[in-house]
Amino acid sequence: MKKRIAVLTGAGVSAESGLGTYRDNGGLWDNYDPMVVASAEGWARNPGLVLDFYNMQREKLREVQPNEAHRLIAALEKDYTVDVITQNVDNLHERAGSTHVVHLHGEATKVRPENTCNDYDGFSEKYVVDVGYDAVRLGDKAPNGAQYRPHIVFFGEAVPKIERAVELVAAADIVLIVGTSLQVYPAAGLYRYARPEAPIYLIDPADVTLCDSRVHHIKAVATKGMQEFVGMLK
Ligand code: OAD
Repeated sequence: MKKRIAVLTGAGVSAESGLGTYRDNGGLWDNYDPMVVASAEGWARNPGLVLDFYNMQREKLREVQPNEAHRLIAALEKDYTVDVITQNVDNLHERAGSTHVVHLHGEATKVRPENTCNDYDGFSEKYVVDVGYDAVRLGDKAPNGAQYRPHIVFFGEAVPKIERAVELVAAADIVLIVGTSLQVYPAAGLYRYARPEAPIYLIDPADVTLCDSRVHHIKAVATKGMQEFVGMLK
């Protein structure tokens, strides 16, 4: 049976594709207030601004390509069972060939009617619509008459896929973290569910402090760090 690798990714894995991160100097949250463009409160107050922000994200996504780090993560599937658990709302892991991707914070290329929810998971997947890279405007409505909203986990909302992500991390023989500042919970706490014997690798060019002696920090950008990680598996 193949060993299992859980790969936890953040904006840093897509940085070399040309997508900005959120919290680095000049990052998205330097230029936009997340409470205005990416929060439940912001949506309630000014949905048009939120739609415009994600229209812009979708448009950027049309222009970029997966990089070598996405490709090396996908290539791990040759020898391992790989679960990618990403905080990213881009589709670059899928476009690089990864076949098991859990999007903790939603997907920029999808929308859903704003009023479909249930107590268990906050929304029902069956109403999610793939719009690709097209813009969505105020007045674009689902058959039930509800305004379409981004299929994004806004600040202030539950993270419906967190339980599945915990199971996948707990089942992994190796945990790999790439390009996340580990500032946003519950995603930031996922690595703590790694089995005691599972090694944890962290690829990030910045000093990211994790209080776990198992963590091996590969201090490099994602493409270089992934080459090093793959070399260490041999
Ligand atoms: P951040 O912007 O918080 O962190 C990006 C991380 O990537 C930092 O640790 C950088 O040092 C690292 N980094 C930068 N360039 C890199 C490169 N070339 N290779 C590897 N690493 C690099 O982004 P996230 O941790 O992903 O949520 O942010 C988490 C969540 O906060 C996002 O999913 C988003 C945001 O608000 C929502 O919008 C719901």
